[in-house]
Amino acid sequence: MIKKLIGTIALSLTCAVAFAAGGGYKLDHAPDRINDMAALQNGAKLFVNYCLGCHSANSMRYNKLTDIGLTEEQIKKNLLFTTDKIGDLMRIAMTPEDAKNWFGAAPPDLSVIARAKSTTMGPSGVDYVYTFLRTFYRDTSKVSGWNNMVFPSVGMPNVLWELQGPRSMDHVVVHETEAADGKKSWERTTANYDAQGFSVIKTEQLKDYSGSAVDKAIFTSANPSGNAAFDNNVADLSNFLGWMAEPMQLQRKQLGVWVLLFLALFLVVAWRLNAVFWKNVK
Ligand code: HEC
Repeated sequence: MIKKLIGTIALSLTCAVAFAAGGGYKLDHAPDRINDMAALQNGAKLFVNYCLGCHSANSMRYNKLTDIGLTEEQIKKNLLFTTDKIGDLMRIAMTPEDAKNWFGAAPPDLSVIARAKSTTMGPSGVDYVYTFLRTFYRDTSKVSGWNNMVFPSVGMPNVLWELQGPRSMDHVVVHETEAADGKKSWERTTANYDAQGFSVIKTEQLKDYSGSAVDKAIFTSANPSGNAAFDNNVADLSNFLGWMAEPMQLQRKQLGVWVLLFLALFLVVAWRLNAVFWKNVK
């Protein structure tokens, strides 16, 4: 009885945490590359090339990228727009008013987005960005021609679509319905969006269904191997946003190792000192 109760509480807690951040869509877990300099550098390159056109990162200076192992020369050559200087903040030319007119919403500054989207017990902000960038699908009913599983009706188009290639998507929802007479039954709705964004929606009754509710998206790529490469790039980019939201975390972790080493050494010294000190005291 007690066991069952604890089980139920644990289960509902897990569900609450898993669904809290993504507006109902279950977030994927991003690979952890926060200490991988090559991955962070690739993320920085993708960020400057694909995101900085619309989003600023106002608390980031270009020369701060030396912290992830880039030289000032590399930054100047590959990442700076001609009008920017190495000490400049990552600003953009677009005004919030223009952005609102074009996209229906202003693109938020991305300096700390990974921290803003993180949950204490559940998925991190890096998981959020990782899933968000990989769940765009074509939808002709939207102004931009794009929709997103994590952020339904998002104003942002799928800016990485050329890297990702064409995909179709089946959004499968299994849920319980209640008829007028109070009788409950399970129903499955499948919305198929083809690679051009035209949708066909199909609903069927499920007899003898004993599972639980389902809400998932199944993406089908024309080129599955290219998709793995895409996921890899998005993982780098998401980790870069995670680093940008908290650039001190690298130093903090390094410092932590030194502190532990010092404490271990100090323990040995204190222990020997203690032995010497009490040697003649009987
Ligand atoms: C063409 C302009 C444009 C580009 C380029 C662009 N975005 Fe966006 N982005 C937007 C807009 C507009 C919004 C606000 C959407 C809304 O509120 O409906 C947004 C929102 C977001 C959000 C916030 C989602 C949320 O839940 O609040 C994230 C994260 C994001 N973009 C990441 C990125 C990343 C990473 C890139 C680069 C790969 C990128 N964007 C490139 C226009 C853009």
